[in-house]
Amino acid sequence: MSVLIKNGRIVTAASDYIADIYIEGEQIAAIGKNLPYQADKIVNAKNRLVFPGGIDPHVHLDMPFMGTFSSDDYTSGTRAALFGGTTMVIDFILQTQGDSLKNALKTWQAKSNGKALGDYSYHMAVTDFNAKTAKEVVHFIEKEGITSFKTFMAYKGALMIDDGQMVQLMKVVKKHGGLVTVHATNGDMIDSLIAKHRAEKKLSPLYHYLSQPEITEAEASGRFADMLAYSKCPGYIVHMTCEGALNAIRKATQRNQKVFVETCTQYLTLDASLYKKKDGAKWVMSPPLREKKDQTALWAGINQGLIQVVGTDHCPFTWKQKQLGAKDFSKIPNGHPAIEHRMELLFSEGVKKKRISLNKFVEVSSTNAAKIFGMYPKKGTIAIGADADIVIFNPNKKHTLSKKTHHMNADYSSYEGFKVTGKTETVFMRGQLAIDNNECLIEPGYGQFVKRGKTSLTI
Ligand code: URP
Ligand code: ZN
Ligand code: ZN
Repeated sequence: MSVLIKNGRIVTAASDYIADIYIEGEQIAAIGKNLPYQADKIVNAKNRLVFPGGIDPHVHLDMPFMGTFSSDDYTSGTRAALFGGTTMVIDFILQTQGDSLKNALKTWQAKSNGKALGDYSYHMAVTDFNAKTAKEVVHFIEKEGITSFKTFMAYKGALMIDDGQMVQLMKVVKKHGGLVTVHATNGDMIDSLIAKHRAEKKLSPLYHYLSQPEITEAEASGRFADMLAYSKCPGYIVHMTCEGALNAIRKATQRNQKVFVETCTQYLTLDASLYKKKDGAKWVMSPPLREKKDQTALWAGINQGLIQVVGTDHCPFTWKQKQLGAKDFSKIPNGHPAIEHRMELLFSEGVKKKRISLNKFVEVSSTNAAKIFGMYPKKGTIAIGADADIVIFNPNKKHTLSKKTHHMNADYSSYEGFKVTGKTETVFMRGQLAIDNNECLIEPGYGQFVKRGKTSLTI
């Protein structure tokens, strides 16, 4: 199968020009003006942006969490991602405390193999570090192509490891060329605030927010950076939400340390006033939404190069699942549906509102994730030899986000009524027409597991 995409405005992290793209099989075979090729399919992309498929390196599909499972599986989740222009996701495998990484991998392979539409990889969440786990970490890096290891500084008793385990893990990961990622909040402080609020019968969703003040994230982010500096391990902080945490990383740069940082679309676009609403449970996630001043700091952090990636932390639950915490905020499953809207929100709120450039948009929505997580230039760019994961985007199309039109398996939208400018119209997934005319044209099983290598981004 060959495809010729004609006259699109091709945007990468580093370039912006009008040309044709010729795809042969699954890869890009040629790029140039007026390419003289015949093709099985010709697409006119005049007046459209053409950029690399989005990479969301922070999603939770079919994940057991807080007594239930996130409501999108690999089929519905990667399908919804494609509708929004995201062609690759990195999900999190959770080690069960007391069990091996290998068993956890098998569980996640059963969830994903033959079920995904878009491509995927996994981060391995190490929740129980010991000598046996250390050997498995080496095996994962060298043999499985899973090179990033997720850690939690919160969720004590379920996912959290202590600082001793963290440093030991960092030393092993550093030695073998991997990367440690982290949910950086102070779990003990948060747990004591949750207990205090519950004892005072303060049980509404607002107290989820008030149990995780900015300092809990700033402190843990700084501590994580210190442990990285000590162990000389490369590290990545997921879902950063606030000015305080960003300043902790800014401080680390003053000793010439480099720490990768991800924020998520919700922290750039929504704020904590939502927790006062009677349906505030919809936005209960960890860390919580913050203040307007934090949004400003995060947009600035992107432009300052302190934040390299914008993900979603897609972890959807239905309203019925959210009702598990109807009487107690601490029992509301944490997370929200987001995978589908990342690219359009980032374009609309970022590029259209002149907060970031078009090149920066591509960099933080695709290219940097490919580089940091060892998949570049197979993924994350438009270049000869790269996978033909390509989005054709109408930059002027206005539409409104709603549960009525989204494809995520969630019966509410965190963005109900939110107006955006810019729409994913056509998506090629490794050369196959995947999304066109609001229809998905590929089947579960098309998506492949992507083996990853070492990080190739220097910041
Ligand atoms: O609220 C969230 N973020 N749920 C998913 C788990 C995590 O901490 O990323
Ligand atoms: Zn987290
Ligand atoms: Zn997460």
